[in-house]
Amino acid sequence: TASKSSRPPVVLVTGGAGYIGSHTCLALQEAGYDIVVIDDLSNSSPESLSRVEQLTGKKVLDFVHSDVRNEQALDALFQKHKPVAVIHFAGLKAVGESVRLPLMYYDANIGSTVALLNCMIKHECFNFVFSSSATVYGNPGPAGTPGGLPLRECAPLGALNPYGQTKLAIEHMLRDLACADERWRITLLRYFNPCGAHPSGRIGEDPQGIPNNLMPYVSQVAVGVLPHINVFGNDYSTPDGTGVRDYIHVCDLAAGHVSALAWLLKGCPAPADAAPGTGTCQAINLGTGVGYSVLEMIAAMEKACGRKLAYKITDRRPGDADAVYSDASLALALLGWKAELDLERMCQDLWNWQHNNPHGYAVTKGSQ
Ligand code: NAD
Ligand code: WQD
Repeated sequence: TASKSSRPPVVLVTGGAGYIGSHTCLALQEAGYDIVVIDDLSNSSPESLSRVEQLTGKKVLDFVHSDVRNEQALDALFQKHKPVAVIHFAGLKAVGESVRLPLMYYDANIGSTVALLNCMIKHECFNFVFSSSATVYGNPGPAGTPGGLPLRECAPLGALNPYGQTKLAIEHMLRDLACADERWRITLLRYFNPCGAHPSGRIGEDPQGIPNNLMPYVSQVAVGVLPHINVFGNDYSTPDGTGVRDYIHVCDLAAGHVSALAWLLKGCPAPADAAPGTGTCQAINLGTGVGYSVLEMIAAMEKACGRKLAYKITDRRPGDADAVYSDASLALALLGWKAELDLERMCQDLWNWQHNNPHGYAVTKGSQ
């Protein structure tokens, strides 16, 4: 009927209550999609989605509080909403924890993806956006060497820890799937270092316990929750000796998902990776192409929060590379997407979120 066909397309977002997921849910609603979310809230609060609804003025069509490995819950969700595509954020992401608890990581990350793909096949939904990571490039070769920095999608792959292994294994699995069935349209979005928050200061990253990643740590020092930053080594072969990474604003990243989804729904024009007679499984970097050092990030955050931030140089963290940054040109060529927000904006928006919500969603929960 006319009313049915005029309904917006529904997208299933797994892990939609999380950091990148919540920003992408907001961007999807703003782009005119309806969204349904499945999240077990193991690393997030439902408050993030309430705030997304407040910001967009649109309801999340359905929220299922469940593990993605719960096949009955998934099946019911597909049956009810018939999503045109799935964006799969749900997964565990702490590198150190994955070294201590590898089986938990393999089970959660690979198990949830297998369950999800089986359900998609059953319901004939073949559009899939996967949250991959720059971690699949392992330790990159130096600038100017083949396959080295800046990292192109065709660079050699390798994982340095169980978390990275799960991302790599899922990438392989998705490639095999696309080879076996030409109906699949898949993007492997390899995020570099997401940071920042929505400019409203209402949604942002809310890590449990002491943050593992640099920018959440820096922002907790800025707001006075933590005393000083530990800079993990200043003897790397980088201009100032500290590690260099490709930080990308989470709102740019969210926009990248909307562009990737649009590309899938158009049938993936001109993919770089597809072989004839197969589906598409396209790896795409989401980065800015520019690297900043730890000390540059601290200086940028000092500017945003208006005060000096204490730091100490400590030992290197095992497994850390000198420098990791993307060649971001494929995303522009295929998706028409590029990062727009600079380092100053990332830090301003991170600070805005952090000082409005010094303890994340927990304390301000329910406050309007
Ligand atoms: P996040 O922890 O904030 O979000 C993940 C969400 O998935 C959380 O809401 C969590 O509760 C949920 N979840 C986890 N396991 C689940 C399961 N089995 N079933 C249902 N829900 C589950 O993390 P994020 O930073 O938003 O990352 C999203 C995705 O992007 C992850 O797959 C992560 O590996 C990937 N990624 C993140 C980064 C980064 O630095 N943040 C970089 C590259 C890739
Ligand atoms: C950035 C830089 C550290 C913390 C990780 C994952 C990767 C991806 C993104 C998911 C490095 C230094 C850090 C601190 C510091 N996640 N640092 N003090 O390691 O590039 O990537 O997150 O896929 O897979 O490995 O990000 O933010 O941890 O570190 O000096 O307290 O900051 O040495 O140079 P990383 P990060």
